[in-house]
Amino acid sequence: MSLPTIEADVQVLPADHPLQSGRTSASPLVTTYQGTRGAVTPIWMMRQAGRSLPEYRALRVGTDMLDACLDPAMASEITLQPVRRHGVDAGIFFSDIVVPIKLAGVDVSIVAGKGPVLPHPVRTAADVAALPDLDEAALAPISEAVALTVAALGDTPLIGFAGAPFTLAAYLVEGGPSKDHIAARTMMHSDPETWQGLMRWTATITGAFLRAQLMAGASAAQLFDSWAGALSLADYTAKVAPASALALSRVHGLQYTAPDAATRTVPIVHFGVGTGELLGAMHDVGADVMGVDYRIPLDEASRRLGGTVPLQGNIDPAFLAAPWPVLEAHVLDVLDRGRAAPSHVLNLGHGVPPDTDPVVITRVVSFVHDVAGDAAARGSDADAGTSATTSAETSTS
Ligand code: CP3
Repeated sequence: MSLPTIEADVQVLPADHPLQSGRTSASPLVTTYQGTRGAVTPIWMMRQAGRSLPEYRALRVGTDMLDACLDPAMASEITLQPVRRHGVDAGIFFSDIVVPIKLAGVDVSIVAGKGPVLPHPVRTAADVAALPDLDEAALAPISEAVALTVAALGDTPLIGFAGAPFTLAAYLVEGGPSKDHIAARTMMHSDPETWQGLMRWTATITGAFLRAQLMAGASAAQLFDSWAGALSLADYTAKVAPASALALSRVHGLQYTAPDAATRTVPIVHFGVGTGELLGAMHDVGADVMGVDYRIPLDEASRRLGGTVPLQGNIDPAFLAAPWPVLEAHVLDVLDRGRAAPSHVLNLGHGVPPDTDPVVITRVVSFVHDVAGDAAARGSDADAGTSATTSAETSTS
């Protein structure tokens, strides 16, 4: 499968962008994504905005999920809620991976407790041919919400995100969530041309959605290929990777001038669930950082990536409901294994479960910042490992 690049984009961020103006370029998140291990291990959590927060549930009463995503003031407020409450090192833009599908004019809704549902699944060549182009002007509410959010975030970076072409295609072909994505995988093999057309469409809309967030002020990007773990390495490489590369070509190499006068590019994170076998291939599509789910430890993930790739992850969300000493020991183990990589941003191995006690999230964030603070006070990376171990052994709570 070969998919040429869409178009030559402007490759320089606007002058007032937080990376270009220097507001976020020296932040722990951005520098860690760029491979520098600092005194602080930055932390944010996938799905940190959303149902675990009572202030989110209160704000959402009476508003449909996708309407909330398209209301700039509401999307911005929801994005800011976990940053205020938990003191995480980044906001992640509140939206959903199906928002660009909706903005293109395709009928999609989000059903509570289930996920995205499309009443008219895309199954045939004619279905793919009928998919409407995304008029980039339709992305205005996204750009507006991002601009509002970064103005309020100050020095804290915002992460933009999008669904990867395969994960979007899986929803489109299945018509909703599925376990093994068998209809999508059947189309991939039985009708390769239709598959390629569908992947080109999803790559185009999702790349535009991500680019809009970055141009409006997001300081990093994360591509979610949640369901790529359903694929063999051979199928991923031949049938999916070119489309993910095409989507990322819209944001890869977006430049700014750092405070030290060096030209740098916006960091791109790539994450999948159950994708331990695909880490190298997913890195090769144009990612700077690999997000790792909880199924393989970070030292093993780093080994598979040749020890050269910054990592993000991978607290098992199941531990968030465990007694604190159990959770604490797990967090310390993740931090310790993360030392195998050049640099490490702490996160979960998938999203915050909706019934998580937000007090636990705040406690994990401040614990991680304190562990890092201890290390900084002692003055070296080697000491940070010692500090982490000591803290685990002496915990009394
Ligand atoms: O779980 C997956 O990884 C599947 C793919 C996926 C979906 N949305 C589909 C979906 C991914 C990666 C997302 C991303 C997403 N959704 C983000 C960005 C990532 C992040 O780390 O924050 C955000 C902010 C959302 C927002 C979102 N989508 C919320 C809060 C909800 C719950 C609905 C509500 O009314 O609050 C959704 C719906 C949704 N999208 C679900 C899935 C699987 C869950 C459906 C449910 O359990 O109700």
